Amino acid sequence: PNAPVKVAVSGAAGQIAYALLFRLAQGDVFGPDTPIDLRLLDLPQAQAALQGVVMELDDCAFPLLTSIQTTDDPIIAFDDIDAAFLVGSRPRAKGMERRDLLAANAAIFKTQGAALNAVAKRSVKVLVVGNPANTNAWVAIQSAPDLPPGAITSMIRLDHNRAAAQFARRAGVPVDAVEKLAVWGNHSPTMFADWSHATVEGQSLAGLINDETWYRDTLIPEVARRGTAVLEARGASSAASAANAAINHMRDWVQGSNGRWVSMGVASIGQYDIPEGLVCGVPTTCRDGVYAPVTGLELDAFTRAGLAASVQELIEERDAALAVLADA
Ligand code: NAI
Repeated sequence: PNAPVKVAVSGAAGQIAYALLFRLAQGDVFGPDTPIDLRLLDLPQAQAALQGVVMELDDCAFPLLTSIQTTDDPIIAFDDIDAAFLVGSRPRAKGMERRDLLAANAAIFKTQGAALNAVAKRSVKVLVVGNPANTNAWVAIQSAPDLPPGAITSMIRLDHNRAAAQFARRAGVPVDAVEKLAVWGNHSPTMFADWSHATVEGQSLAGLINDETWYRDTLIPEVARRGTAVLEARGASSAASAANAAINHMRDWVQGSNGRWVSMGVASIGQYDIPEGLVCGVPTTCRDGVYAPVTGLELDAFTRAGLAASVQELIEERDAALAVLADA
């Protein structure tokens, strides 16, 4: 077997973590030959519940799970880690202003970014899941200047997977057959699912489905509103599918995407009129532990407009976070 990897999960007593941890411990991210030392981070008031999660992890007798440590201190959780899933964040309470929500999260991700900067391995791979995920990742990046560019990413994979499933169903093909799908922008209702480059066995997906009205008026808004639809139906927000997307994102980053496009929230390199540094969903490919945004795509006017609207929202979130950090 390989040397164990040290993996931190924040929000470890929460819903998403309850689906994520068991798959992680089973080897779904790092493979069947890599033991895992788990670091579970949550708030002081969640530590009792967290002990219950630890008991259940113990009771699974996962062969790969070599140790579990619980803590409310990011410095302890992130010490020498190889990877982190930052799932915990401040949810919007009733009557809470958007600015207060942003401020609470900016403070959390400033602290966690600084902790990563101080103690994580320089090769650490970080996935921010907690919302507002893109802007939280941006804040963490600002607080982690000593980590290499590209160490901290955000999750848009759930939107990617949602779109992939809908496209495949509509085209009547297995979901794996859909390639070169992109989800651009913010993980919010402005995200933009883009079929313009997508193919099925080398043929255009758009050509195969041949229904531009469905794409524009049904697919795009339904993917954007899917989180709300799940929440209304289930009475609780997406958890298993969010955990699955987090597993997919990290697995592809670590093990490679085999040439397939996967959408990730990454610090922009200035392409497609996305301001440099903004954390934005883009198509990438992953190889040898490194992700590379797909460059040089021709975007049609509809896609450019969709992306620009989401980028505008990200700029506003970033500037609000910046103002909060400057005031602090
Ligand atoms: P949850 O409320 O069940 O769990 C959140 C956990 O985070 C709680 O145990 C809480 O105590 C903990 N927490 C809060 N602040 C923390 C901090 N500063 N440090 C460590 N732990 C902290 O929420 P759930 O359902 O697990 O969702 C977690 C987050 O993921 C939410 O922000 C949600 O909006 C987001 N999300 C993101 C998606 C994406 O695609 N990017 C998809 C679905 C959810």
